[in-house]
Amino acid sequence: METKYIDLKKEIEENKICEASNEIKNGNLVIFPTETVYGIGANALNDEACKNIFKAKGRAGDNPLIVHVNNLEMIKQIVEEPNDIEKNLINAFCPGPFTIILKAKDIIPKSVTAGLDTVGIRMPSNKVANKLIEYAGVPIAAPSANISGRPSGTNIEDIKNEFDGKVTVIIDSGMVDIGLESTVVRVINNKVRILRPGKITKEDIEKLGFKVEIDKNILGKYDGKEKVLSPGMKYRHYAPNTKCMMIYSKNTEKMIEKIREISESKNTLIICRDKNYDKYNVEYKIKMGNTLEEIAHNIFSILRKVDKYNVDLVIIEGMEKEGLGLALNNRLLRACEYNYLEI
Ligand code: TXA
Ligand code: MG
Repeated sequence: METKYIDLKKEIEENKICEASNEIKNGNLVIFPTETVYGIGANALNDEACKNIFKAKGRAGDNPLIVHVNNLEMIKQIVEEPNDIEKNLINAFCPGPFTIILKAKDIIPKSVTAGLDTVGIRMPSNKVANKLIEYAGVPIAAPSANISGRPSGTNIEDIKNEFDGKVTVIIDSGMVDIGLESTVVRVINNKVRILRPGKITKEDIEKLGFKVEIDKNILGKYDGKEKVLSPGMKYRHYAPNTKCMMIYSKNTEKMIEKIREISESKNTLIICRDKNYDKYNVEYKIKMGNTLEEIAHNIFSILRKVDKYNVDLVIIEGMEKEGLGLALNNRLLRACEYNYLEI
């Protein structure tokens, strides 16, 4: 199939979004931007179309898709009435980088829910995503636009490499804003359980007065024994082929010293904060930004590059586990396959 590219980098042309929405209506796949990462979308009410998402990504059939909506009416159409806590969360964080797991109605095909009785609902704030859903007139099921196991697609070059010829349309609106996927939550026994951390943090949810729990798989390694609440956590994710290691200390000098020590005896690539770049005397190093926001924005495209350096080890500077740092630790621990040192 020949993929059609729609360029909205300079201007958001609504007639072009309308054209892409027709492909959603026709049961085809469209890659589109959201504020978090790009999504690979299909009509969420069309079982066949959604099955094709799994094929294009090489995604395991037991890993459900989240469904994107652009208004509250659409939520009503696809899930049972939310309880008060769920309603509060929806009011506070939708539209935004937030996904809430709710009880699915039968209208949602089994391919989307992977046979669960729940479905993840997300209302993106990105204007192109919103218009796409509006013109399509149906909810859009969309996982992140990446081959399963790879870092989520945040820029068109990476996406083109993986999906050219596999989807009907790719909408290019440049680099995404946040760079990490949405926060996924589920309300269990009146507490808000974070299943996947993201830009909406534990602290943000606590401000609403709710008790928040962090699922133990977020920083821990899935042991294969218990049933996971979020199937995506079982899978290898984000990891480059080159071995990666994350090193962290609350004391920056100590962290730098340790990274220098390890990099002396090996052929390494160091991924570090801009401000620490000159402290490392190695041939290969990449700047990842200084703030947590900047690191989130850059990290997936950096992870996609590291295999090109042909080194023995990639060392990544670690970060605190609070705020957006929890989401970064969650993704980077997986990229490093839990090869982590905190001193
Ligand atoms: O920011 C995002 O959420 C992006 C953009 C495109 O919206 N989408 C995204 O989708 O990251 P995906 O499929 O790559 O990740 C969704 C995660 C997966 O880990 C999946 O297992 C989990 O949400 N999930 C989906 N439905 C679920 C359900 N009913 N119960 C528990 N977890 C669910
Ligand atoms: Mg994904």
